[in-house]
Amino acid sequence: MENKEARLRMMYLANLISVPMALHAAVKLSIPDLVWQGGANLPISPKQLAALIQSKLGLATEPDTANLQRILQVLASHGVFEEVLESGSQAAKAFRLTHIGQTLVPDEQGLSLGAYILRNYQDAFVQAWPHLHESVLDPRQEPFKRAHGVPVYDYYARDSTCNLLMQKAMSSISLPFLRAVLDSYDGFGSEGLKRIIVDVGGSSGSCVAMIVDRYPGLQGINFDLPQVVADAPQHKGVTHIGGNMFDYVPEGDIIFMKSVLNSYSDEECKKVLENCHKALPENGKFILCDMAMPRVSDDSERTRMLLVFDIFLMTFHAANCRNRTESENRKLCEAVGFTGFKAFYNFDHFTTLMEFQK
Ligand SMILES: C[S@@+](CC[C@H](N)C(=O)[O-])C[C@H]1O[C@@H](n2cnc3c(N)ncnc32)[C@H](O)[C@@H]1O
Repeated sequence: MENKEARLRMMYLANLISVPMALHAAVKLSIPDLVWQGGANLPISPKQLAALIQSKLGLATEPDTANLQRILQVLASHGVFEEVLESGSQAAKAFRLTHIGQTLVPDEQGLSLGAYILRNYQDAFVQAWPHLHESVLDPRQEPFKRAHGVPVYDYYARDSTCNLLMQKAMSSISLPFLRAVLDSYDGFGSEGLKRIIVDVGGSSGSCVAMIVDRYPGLQGINFDLPQVVADAPQHKGVTHIGGNMFDYVPEGDIIFMKSVLNSYSDEECKKVLENCHKALPENGKFILCDMAMPRVSDDSERTRMLLVFDIFLMTFHAANCRNRTESENRKLCEAVGFTGFKAFYNFDHFTTLMEFQK
């Protein structure tokens, strides 16, 4: 690579924050939904879109068309919108959502990856990033705690909007994953068999609700911090229990845990896993779903997503937490007595389902 190309690439990296910020702006302005128009997804000009935003948000004045176009252009360049040049005019552009952009359109439950973007770039989260380098100098405190004085999970107790945003963001990632799991994985047992399944760190309870909906014999327990379950909606067949998994885990025949261990250090994970082991009967099942870190830091989209998410964990979660490889997760589980490891893949491009027996 020549000098000029190296400087160009570094200039791009140095300004890359504009991409998630443009995504955040687009979601805040409801642009994906307004372009989608219930599935029509016809190319729309910034001028037409500005009028739709004005009416949707009830604004007194029309949004600025030129600035709107700048947001759409940068996102078009990153594959979120398709940019269509209107015939006969060099300058007039129209935009429609690509397949990638369509992940921001709310589904019938109001869920989309837009919720994840709103969660990631809310003010309280943005304020943590300037402290990232301090984690290298002294890893005892995560950047979020340096910025706000409390760990992120305690912050949710203070701020109900933030708590609900977190629950919506997690459901928007986890429900498509779980739908794929339920379509091809049969490890939740036979339908009709009366058993209890506990989702540890289950957030809103939407995952365990989906499982009991498919397996009506199962009785669901959604176990999460008291401040989280206090805001959680009711689901048929699911009981919410508020508590701290470091103290205990409610008893059940199956324990399910998704995207929880990567927020904690190895020592903390062992404590939680011991409590999960204690809560199961002999032959009980433990199902762990987590992102599996790649061993090589290549430049594939999957590796990049896992590596950037790992930095997110470092910024927002407990000191020394991290995304682990499949074998690191397996070792942690086996260290507390779980056996019979089996791994299942391809439900999405980043989460592995690991099954163990007591
Ligand atoms: C990243 S979210 C995962 C939510 C859900 N399992 C999913 O994948 O959609 C982690 C969850 O673990 C919960 N959690 C963290 N620490 C906990 C603790 N000490 N006791 C109980 N739950 C905890 C959080 O409140 C949060 O809902």
